[in-house]
Amino acid sequence: MTDFKKKVIYQIYPKSFKDSDGDGVGDIQGIIEKLPYLQKLGIEMIWFNPFYPSPQNDNGYDISDYCQIDPLFGTMTDFERLISEMEKFGIEMMLDMVFNHTSTKHVWFQRALAGEKKYQKYYILRPAKANGDLPTNWVSKFGGHAWQKFGETDLYYLHLYDVTQADLDWRNPDVRQELYRVINFWRNKGVKGFRFDVINVIGKAEELLDDPTGDGKKMYTDQPIIHEYLQEMNRQTFGQDARIITVGEMSATTVENCILYSQTERKELTMTFNFHHLKVDYPNGEKWQEGTFDFEQLKDLLHGWGQRMSAEGGWNALFWNNHDQPRALTRFLDDKNYRVEGAKLLAAAIHLSRGTPYIYQGEEIGMTDPKFDKLADYRDIETLNAYKKLQLMGYSEAKIMRIIQAKSRDNSRTPMQWSDEPSAGFSTGEPWLPVAENYQKINVETELDHGSIFSFYQRLIQLRKNHLVISEGSYTAYATEHPQIYGYIRSFKKQRLLVLNNFFEKAEPVPLPAEFISGKLLVGNYPEAERKAMITLRPYETLAILI
Ligand code: GLC
Repeated sequence: MTDFKKKVIYQIYPKSFKDSDGDGVGDIQGIIEKLPYLQKLGIEMIWFNPFYPSPQNDNGYDISDYCQIDPLFGTMTDFERLISEMEKFGIEMMLDMVFNHTSTKHVWFQRALAGEKKYQKYYILRPAKANGDLPTNWVSKFGGHAWQKFGETDLYYLHLYDVTQADLDWRNPDVRQELYRVINFWRNKGVKGFRFDVINVIGKAEELLDDPTGDGKKMYTDQPIIHEYLQEMNRQTFGQDARIITVGEMSATTVENCILYSQTERKELTMTFNFHHLKVDYPNGEKWQEGTFDFEQLKDLLHGWGQRMSAEGGWNALFWNNHDQPRALTRFLDDKNYRVEGAKLLAAAIHLSRGTPYIYQGEEIGMTDPKFDKLADYRDIETLNAYKKLQLMGYSEAKIMRIIQAKSRDNSRTPMQWSDEPSAGFSTGEPWLPVAENYQKINVETELDHGSIFSFYQRLIQLRKNHLVISEGSYTAYATEHPQIYGYIRSFKKQRLLVLNNFFEKAEPVPLPAEFISGKLLVGNYPEAERKAMITLRPYETLAILI
């Protein structure tokens, strides 16, 4: 077993990290420039969102060639330089494998369209129903139907995402072999981690049926066959190297399945991402609606997953932010009055928990949502589709913009704020997506100069390396009934760590178990206060006591 449990992973969204050539889009050379910064932070692996050739309809998740670098980001030589530079800094590389679908510009899809039977079998093609209806009633996750006419034929192809992202048929062993070759290609270049995009939706049945009660999700999500596919992929690729770390992105999954996906002895994946805790502000499960955040639900979800994964040997990827989510600091806390305290609270709440923490670029300096006020500033395809849908629903422009400001994926995709120079030092040209207006106040230079969020992250990352109770300890929920506190106890051999987080502005008392009264304050976001049987947590306070 490797020491993956001691590592923290950093996520880079290449388009928005650092532009070295002034075209407004981040690139590989830009990333190389910033490696010393990441080494200083202390992370040991970087997950890169896709930088393969792509029409960029879904910002690189529509891949047209799995084994090349898109010229937008650089060349294969740049990539090789990146990996060897990273090695010098002791940082490993995790690549994004988007295997549920390819771009319709991929040569496989193009050859299928041209009539080659072999490649037609790579995709999920079906005729219309006898009555002329689409093959099933499934809905695309980006809005609209999940089926599109396949060229001049009478068939339709399935696309669970954008119409330019055609689903692959994993039942075809040739498809699986092609994809395994992709993993091994990158392994040979020294890649030590793989993130599998929406990997729990790959198991479609031979006979596709209408969903009698929903949008189709339950007909293809977490199907039992996926476990077999993952075991086969593991055997034929990354499972041959014990140092490799894998994470599966699981859409609308269950804890039962995530335990199976991540138990070591099952030889599927190292860990899983799930999103339940990031839906606690979706009224009735609807993303594109205004909603307030339900702390009870958040706490119950974190406890439920933490405890079950711990008891049954599963492993969670721990995160608040990524390229698909608005920033948690804006979303759940008060980023105006308590930005610094809030950023630290969110960090400690997951970095001290059981699982592998991920830091999304900019989180370590407390970046916030930009809240653009005009549609023209948004680029994301899901956002643009949602705008049209909300208009059809008759919503006012002002209401639509409020929803988009709160929900758009572009919230986290704005350029990394490096300095107070124009375009936040991200690019000398015009950035592909506007920079958040607050860059003169929130940026890396200012943060390293006199901020305290970055150093708090440094400390958390070091604590995980040095304390087995953090990297290995079990998870038990604490103060589960408390209306404001998310608390847990980690235990490893004789060591115990109590972590308390006040998710609100109001100061709140919470009981302290007697044995922790004289324990050591390992980390906190306020000066140490006197401890008694009851302690009062200040606004957005986090603290961890070790005994
Ligand atoms: C994942 C990615 C997201 C992408 C989708 C389709 O959810 O994180 O950015 O749009 O898969 O590939």
